[in-house]
Amino acid sequence: MSKRAAAALAAGAMVLTLTACGSGGGGGGGSADKGSGHKLVLGFSQVGAESGWRTANTKSVQEAAKKAGIELKFSDAQQKQENQIKAIRSFIQQKVDVIAFSPVVESGWDTVLKEAKDAHIPVVLTDRAVDSKDESLYASFLGSDFVAEGKAAGDWLVKEYAAGSGDVNIVQLEGTTGSAPANDRKSGFADAVKGQSRFKVVASQTGDFTRAKGKEVMQAFLKSQPKIDVLYAHNDDMALGAIQAIEEAGKKPGTDIKIVSVDGVKDAFTAMSQGKINYDVECNPLLGDQLMDLVKKVKAGEQVPRRIKTEEGTFTPEQATAALPNRQY
Ligand code: AHR
Repeated sequence: MSKRAAAALAAGAMVLTLTACGSGGGGGGGSADKGSGHKLVLGFSQVGAESGWRTANTKSVQEAAKKAGIELKFSDAQQKQENQIKAIRSFIQQKVDVIAFSPVVESGWDTVLKEAKDAHIPVVLTDRAVDSKDESLYASFLGSDFVAEGKAAGDWLVKEYAAGSGDVNIVQLEGTTGSAPANDRKSGFADAVKGQSRFKVVASQTGDFTRAKGKEVMQAFLKSQPKIDVLYAHNDDMALGAIQAIEEAGKKPGTDIKIVSVDGVKDAFTAMSQGKINYDVECNPLLGDQLMDLVKKVKAGEQVPRRIKTEEGTFTPEQATAALPNRQY
């Protein structure tokens, strides 16, 4: 077997095919059967399983595909760009109808996206963006406004610490280096506190969006920083890991160190109801139904918006406690 064929086989093996519809199709979501017994096939490359948000997003995509009668070829990249590139190449080889993916980092996609374009397979970005200048490389981008999320976190802080309240030492747990949510949540937050010299980001480091890393980096912050007033975490899982570190250091999260975070997952709402997180900016992972709708339209050659922003809110501890019983993720 040639080297190339062996590589292609290996890439193909990475892709786990989930047949997404039982017999009958049809149903509320409408079947994506093209009339010849051939279902619309979607290749979806997911970032990984790094957070509660991600688990909810994967479930939403899988359930929505099933409901819509779309055959889903699902691949987990384990937070590695090279795995996503391999998965996309494998989808191209398998001649799927549409490719959707949530890019682990923003840059470095042009070559593989050009390959999809040359194979006439439309690409939809979901959750995270790419920084490609060539807009013809993807049909649409569905997801949150991460800059606005970072700004909402910063705006809360500005209200919480009015001018004249003295220096506010902030530590920041950043998401995956080079990812759109890490870049944008950092810049949105910086913008909100800009020009207000009481806010000092005294330490900032990646926790890779995971609980374990969030805890580890917070432990290091607690050792190196004599005074921490606020933790800004780019996602809830890192905030939850940091809470463990703060408690193990004999401090009270939410009181000794105020915490502002992003996502709005159930576990964070529970922590908020216990007074351990002070503010949470929502990032909605339930994108599945919208994504399937978009995929069908793109395949049918319909005009779709270049950018579809997800609607989301913000939560105080009182609001989170009230929302907790009905929180879906
Ligand atoms: O891209 C969305 C982000 O990725 C979520 O905020 C985070 O929890 C996830 O890992």
